[in-house]
Amino acid sequence: MKFILSGGHSGIGLELSKKLLREGHQLGLILRHEGRQAAAVEALGTTEGVDFFYADLSKRSELAKVAEEIQGKWDRVDGLFNNAGLLAEKATYSEQGNEMQFEVNALPPYFLAQALRPLLDRAERAFVVNTATSGLHRQKALDVAELKRPKKFVKLMGSYLNSKFALVLLMNHLAAEWPEVRVVNVDPGPNKTKMTSGSGMPFWLVPIRNLFFAKPTAGAGKIYDAAFQPAFQDQTGIYITGGQVKAIKVRLSEAELVAMLR
Ligand SMILES: NC(=O)c1ccc[n+]([C@@H]2O[C@H](COP(=O)([O-])OP(=O)(O)OC[C@H]3O[C@@H](n4cnc5c(N)ncnc54)[C@H](OP(=O)(O)O)[C@@H]3O)[C@@H](O)[C@H]2O)c1
Repeated sequence: MKFILSGGHSGIGLELSKKLLREGHQLGLILRHEGRQAAAVEALGTTEGVDFFYADLSKRSELAKVAEEIQGKWDRVDGLFNNAGLLAEKATYSEQGNEMQFEVNALPPYFLAQALRPLLDRAERAFVVNTATSGLHRQKALDVAELKRPKKFVKLMGSYLNSKFALVLLMNHLAAEWPEVRVVNVDPGPNKTKMTSGSGMPFWLVPIRNLFFAKPTAGAGKIYDAAFQPAFQDQTGIYITGGQVKAIKVRLSEAELVAMLR
């Protein structure tokens, strides 16, 4: 089968890519830029079955371009894994003027899925699997203005958590109007990766990460299960955490959608 995966040269995405390649699938990896390719090839140990595409996902123009390139090269996509993500140490802003975690974590999955829709629609029953985070079923509401430009930046539990909640709400909105494709949001659980070793982690969580966070193969396994486990095959617009589907009751209004995408 043919899968597109973002952020596949490190952490959870790398382990998922290795697993999919071992099973003989064809992969289209979206890397930030061409300079990442050597590291990706070394980490994967092969280029067989892999096409490389490049886009800084925070830039709307590069997103549109990469989607065009994929459409020029591939005739069909059986699954899109939106896995790339950012955990930031301070507020920075994208070219479009949005807080960077919102720009990278929430918007590209939605835009990529839409742009690749003709290829996903050509598969027998395609899926879009999005890497979310823990605790999103406990979120009660989304403040779009705060999401785009936070008044006070809080590491991890502030803009990052909000951006992942926004991701799930956006993708569930898409799921409701696109029943032909299965949309699944999945929490990979806590994993020791570049992201959780970086300066975006709150200091109090570092000892816990060192002691208890799993290897990224664990997170990759959870994403893989979300895509392929028979129990999830008939469901769309779902959020899986701890291996179970948990209800997200918040729905995006059209006004909120427009405000988010503006
Ligand atoms: N690790 C955890 O405990 C945990 C828990 C919950 C959710 N997650 C989610 O899991 C996913 C994978 O993260 P990870 O833990 O495996 O960390 P990671 O190794 O840092 O992977 C993140 C990937 O996203 C890519 N990326 C970030 N910003 C990008 C941009 N603007 N354009 C293109 N690519 C970009 C990174 O590429 P570069 O190397 O070029 O930056 C990297 O390949 C993320 O969505 C994360 O939010 C992780």
